[in-house]
Parts: sequence; structure tokens; C-alpha cells
Amino acid sequence: MVIWLIGLSKSGKTTLTRLLYDRLKPMIPNLVRLDGDLIRELFGHDVDHTVGGRRKNAERLSHLSKFLSDQNIHVIAAVLSIFPEWRRWNRANIPGYAEVYLKTSLETVKRRDSDNLYIHALQGKIKNVVGVDIPFPEPEGSDLIIDNDAQRDDFEELISQIVSLPVIQKMIEGNR
Ligand SMILES: Nc1ncnc2c1ncn2[C@@H]1O[C@H](COP(=O)(O)OP(=O)(O)OP(=O)(O)O)[C@@H](O)[C@H]1O
Ligand SMILES: [Mg+2]
Repeated sequence: MVIWLIGLSKSGKTTLTRLLYDRLKPMIPNLVRLDGDLIRELFGHDVDHTVGGRRKNAERLSHLSKFLSDQNIHVIAAVLSIFPEWRRWNRANIPGYAEVYLKTSLETVKRRDSDNLYIHALQGKIKNVVGVDIPFPEPEGSDLIIDNDAQRDDFEELISQIVSLPVIQKMIEGNR
């Protein structure tokens, strides 16, 4: 089974997948955590942040997720997915695929922008930033939409919402 957490940069994908992994790993030993940025690193930074580079990375993430899932390794992945066709591919090809959309406004992610990604993109200093010069097609038909605009000190409530997904309950039951 594969769960993708999708959202803009700074929407909280890595934060929530880490917390989710820590919560689930003791109950689901055959669980791995993937992250779009980790996959770039693993493959030796051979793709850039252009739409073409992002497409290659999306393709790798989908195929790797399926490859692991087919061998009964469950996956939770943080992915800035901008390609509806790869989301559709996941749903069509990965049994037990679920999508969580971390919905945030551009205002929110600009506020959390510790590395000035959005500021620099809006000033035209850098290119290829999703939400500024690369469009972000919002996921359609997500299994769960989490509004992550509110400022939080702890993510317990959000993690509980994700853990309640039927696909995660099934993973837990499968390991009992
Ligand atoms: N609801 C929230 N309230 C306060 N801070 C938050 C909230 N959600 C996320 N953050 C903080 O925002 C920052 C960015 O989050 P995170 O790195 O998880 O985003 P991301 O979606 O993985 O971004 P990227 O695509 O750039 O890797 C982190 O410091 C995180 O703690
Ligand atoms: Mg991240």
C-alpha cells in the first residue's frame, strides 16, 4: 500500500510524513518513508527543478512506490506532485494507493518560507518554483484533504486524521 502526501513546498509534507512514519513504524515494520527530495539525492541530483526534471522525478517516485508495494513494503511519501497523469497512474497501477492533499494558501507557505524560495521567485530572482511560475494543479479525488493553513504547535490531530484512513487501518491489521 502506498500513501502520498501532496502539497506545495512548505505545506508540511516532510513534517507530517516523518511524524506518521514514527507513529506507524512500530506497528508496521515493513514501512518505508520516501520524499521527493530524498529521491533526487539518491539518484545523484541528476534532475533539476524544471518541469522536465520534475517529470522525471515524478516518474521515479511512482515506479519506486509500486516496486516496493508489489513486494509488500508499504510506502508513505512526501511528494510535490504537479502531474495529474502520474497521480492517475498511481491509482490505476498501485493497489491500495491513497492520496492526502495538504491544502495551503500561497500566503501560508510564504510565511513558512525559511529559505526565501517564494520571495525570490516572486521577485523574479529564481525560476521553476511551483505555485509561482510553475502551476500546481490541485489534486482531484484525494482520499483526504487536510487544511494546513492554521498555525500549529503540534500535529497530533492531523496525524490522527491520516491514521484513520482505511488503507492505513488495513496496514495495521495486516501486521497484527
Ligand atoms: N500547521 C503548521 N503550523 C506551523 N508550522 C508548520 C505547519 N505545517 C508545517 N509547518 C512548518 O513549516 C515548515 C515547512 O514544512 P515541511 O518542510 O514539512 O514542508 P514540505 O511540504 O516538506 O516543503 P518542501 O516541499 O519544501 O520540502 C516546517 O518548519 C514545519 O514545521
Ligand atoms: Mg519536504
